[in-house]
Amino acid sequence: MKSYKIALLDGDGIGPEIMAEAVKILKLVATRNKVNFELTHTPFGASAWFSHGASFPDETKAVCDAADAILKGPIGLSFEESKKIPVDQQPERGALLPLRRRYNTYANFRPVYLPKGLIHFSPLKPEIIGDGIDIMMIRELVGGLYFGKKETGVNAAGKRYVNEMLEYDEDQIRAIVKVGFQTAQKRKKVLHNIHKSNVLKSSVLWNEIVEEEKQNYPDVQVEHILVDSAATYLCLKPTMFDVMLMENMFGDILSDQGGGILGSLGLMPSACMGPDKAYYEPSHGSAPDIAGKNIANPYSMIGSVAMMLEMSFGMEQESKNLWQAMQSVFAQGYSTPDLSRPGSGVKMISTSEFGTLVAKELAAMPIP
Ligand code: NAD
Ligand code: IPM
Ligand code: MN
Repeated sequence: MKSYKIALLDGDGIGPEIMAEAVKILKLVATRNKVNFELTHTPFGASAWFSHGASFPDETKAVCDAADAILKGPIGLSFEESKKIPVDQQPERGALLPLRRRYNTYANFRPVYLPKGLIHFSPLKPEIIGDGIDIMMIRELVGGLYFGKKETGVNAAGKRYVNEMLEYDEDQIRAIVKVGFQTAQKRKKVLHNIHKSNVLKSSVLWNEIVEEEKQNYPDVQVEHILVDSAATYLCLKPTMFDVMLMENMFGDILSDQGGGILGSLGLMPSACMGPDKAYYEPSHGSAPDIAGKNIANPYSMIGSVAMMLEMSFGMEQESKNLWQAMQSVFAQGYSTPDLSRPGSGVKMISTSEFGTLVAKELAAMPIP
């Protein structure tokens, strides 16, 4: 029997609630496919800072080091609550970025996907969406402004100042650019390169490398588009995009906009791939406004499990089954409140009911 170790980082806010649904599914997948998932919950995030004095404790590092894959819930506190933790130890800077750096998870896949049957969830008009939205956003995850040198202080004029560097070297850019081309080759062979080369020197170098790599992927058509313009077209004509390639900060912002055009951030799973290790997480945050109410949408977390099954364990068919199971639940008119607009006629269900229904659908599918 195959056996995989999975580190479970529940995180903060809605993290534990949506993780519970992911675990429900993992246990079912294990039984159906006769694989063993060794699941280990381990502290991470603001909750870990309060309970263990560190947002990424050593014991968690050890569990993650030993794991075949990591499943992570969102971390972070509300603006006010964050102030209880010193700035550099807040879970974004103190846990999440160190996790990304530790495993060099440079390639972040953020699918923005809404099949035709679900376009009523989107705030965009049906004539804009047509047959649905199907975009793979590829975000560089371990460089740029996030990881550049930072300096704060008081200058000679007595004014507080800050310097934050946007740093990339050509190897870093080339690595993610190759991922972009290879992903485009597996899809519609059109790559939208998102940049800001009219202002940023980092984008000038980025685009040079895209042009160099283009020679190695002659079957892929490259479209260069400025990031601000791309933001507009995501709303006006989302169907023009298939694979979008971008640096870290652009990817952070445009992927949340991706969630917006789908109708909820709860529809945004992701995969963060490094050379030796991958971790999977929803693209959204800990949603402090709805935490503890059993109303968060667990699709993003269960979708992250589906990505893990495919990308870490090679369980492609079961991954497809899981996506299908989630679509079936929506197709029966059920959804969590984030997607249930007044008058939409949607049957509103809780986080745990959604997980249970997905499990029921999956259990009814043929075993791969
Ligand atoms: P957020 O993504 O947590 O929430 C934005 C809005 O989307 C809220 O109204 C929230 O209720 C809703 N939402 C998000 N996920 C949902 C889900 N699964 N189901 C239903 N509704 C959902 O963003 P925020 O409020 O700006 O940030 C809250 C905290 O999360 C901050 O501390 C931030 O740093 C952190 N954060 C963490 C991650 C991560 O762990 N990868 C990602 C983004 C933000
Ligand atoms: C995300 C989040 C993180 C990011 C934060 C919490 C550091 O917003 O995963 O999109 O900006 O990368
Ligand atoms: Mn983000």
